[in-house]
Amino acid sequence: MGHGQGVHMADRTLGSRQLAALLPAGVLARPGYRALADALRTLILDGRIALHVRLPAERELAGAVGASRATVTGAYDLLRESGYVRSRRGSGTWTELPEGHRPVGAHTLVAAGAHGAGGDPGIDLAIAAMGAPEEALADALARAAARLPGAARDPGYHPFGLPDLRTAVAERFTRRGLPTRPEQILVTSGAQQAFALVVSLLCRPGDRVLTENPTYANALDALRHARLRTGSIAVSDAGWDMEIAESTLRQTVPRLAYAIPDFHNPTGALMPPDQRQRLLAATRTTGTWLVVDETIADIALDVPPPPPLASLAPRGGADHVITIGSLSKTHWGGLRVGWIRAGAKMVTELTAVRVAADMTGSVLDQLVALPLMEGLDRTLPGRLARLRTQREALVGSLQRHTPQWSWRLPPGGLSLWVDLGEPVSSALTERAAAAGVHIGRGARFGVDPGTFEHRLRIPYTLPADRLEEGVRRLARAFHEGVPLAPAVQRPHWVA
Ligand SMILES: Cc1ncc(COP(=O)(O)O)c(C=O)c1O
Repeated sequence: MGHGQGVHMADRTLGSRQLAALLPAGVLARPGYRALADALRTLILDGRIALHVRLPAERELAGAVGASRATVTGAYDLLRESGYVRSRRGSGTWTELPEGHRPVGAHTLVAAGAHGAGGDPGIDLAIAAMGAPEEALADALARAAARLPGAARDPGYHPFGLPDLRTAVAERFTRRGLPTRPEQILVTSGAQQAFALVVSLLCRPGDRVLTENPTYANALDALRHARLRTGSIAVSDAGWDMEIAESTLRQTVPRLAYAIPDFHNPTGALMPPDQRQRLLAATRTTGTWLVVDETIADIALDVPPPPPLASLAPRGGADHVITIGSLSKTHWGGLRVGWIRAGAKMVTELTAVRVAADMTGSVLDQLVALPLMEGLDRTLPGRLARLRTQREALVGSLQRHTPQWSWRLPPGGLSLWVDLGEPVSSALTERAAAAGVHIGRGARFGVDPGTFEHRLRIPYTLPADRLEEGVRRLARAFHEGVPLAPAVQRPHWVA
């Protein structure tokens, strides 16, 4: 939760065993109060412990980490003094961020264009997507032109999507291991619309939803605009924290959970099969709709493309799963074509919401999408090869210019989730913008404002020379001039 105003109390509890499992081995080996407080603060800033979560009672935590009660009391005191926890008699101690820890421009669009001074076109590292595959697009346009006169004989309203495209999308799900009928497909204007339609149909203001943390910034905005209460599943370099996800599901019983299991945005992580099973089972038990965002699933760089998450469920065990996807990453974001796969009845209900919003999708876009969809397996290998080369180039540029930054090479996806080693991401992105580099700061991907200040998402979707120039400018912004202000020390007054 955490984007509203006013005093927040805890809305769920972290068990002492769960918390102990998150602490680094060094702290557990010799638990001192300062080390324990530092470790807890890092977990809060990194989104691995969400805000407004009740921490274990002092005696319980002391038992779980093998420390004295005085050590835990000392650590909680320190965190309270520095604003990372609050306590109230009878309500326990819960996580917070210090006042003033609200980086500026929290809602700057990640997709905004970059323009530097003096005619410099700037380098746009805010968008993790490539231009269209030219040959495939030209071929698709020619085929669409040939079919347009026939299509134009009817009025052009197809709220469910062009029948042939619904069939093509359904057949691809079936080939990937998830048998699907055309009636289970709604063609949308991209995956973002798909998500907004699902939220609009299923959620009412105040409902609880669960997302990964960090997660896709525009999905978070869709949830905020729908005034939902957001809980989180931490995704770190170690992957998904499924134990806490399960207990959060049990404790909060959210209406909907949103996950990007395939080359997760922004971390690039791939959810292992056993965790997919656990997520399916846990959401089924709590009666939570599970929205699986497959927008990046085809960008499998080092591993075979994963089968649809819903295909892992036993027969009938995935009725609560809604899968969304689009052609934006495999082909082109400018072609507004995506889809929702759900039960046929829900597809009809979603289509009613869609008609109220925008009537129908563009027939021309769908006619172009049809041959692209059919030729996907021919176009994709070249795109993936280019992304691998650019990823290698980005890694080389980072090693040359900012050797102190670190990252884990993801098995797929379009970006690196870079650890800056200091919580300066907001200040860095502001300074980079002045140098003509537009980039999404870590906090844009956090459920709670002010977290992920030591992270930057750097896409490898530009050609190598642009990546090199972008990193060079980022490095200069990082190293030169007065030290970057950590977000935690920003003054919160205005005059
Ligand atoms: C995870 C995820 N979901 C959805 C989208 C939005 O895609 P579309 O252009 O299909 O609306 C993106 C695009 O960046 C994405 O990364």
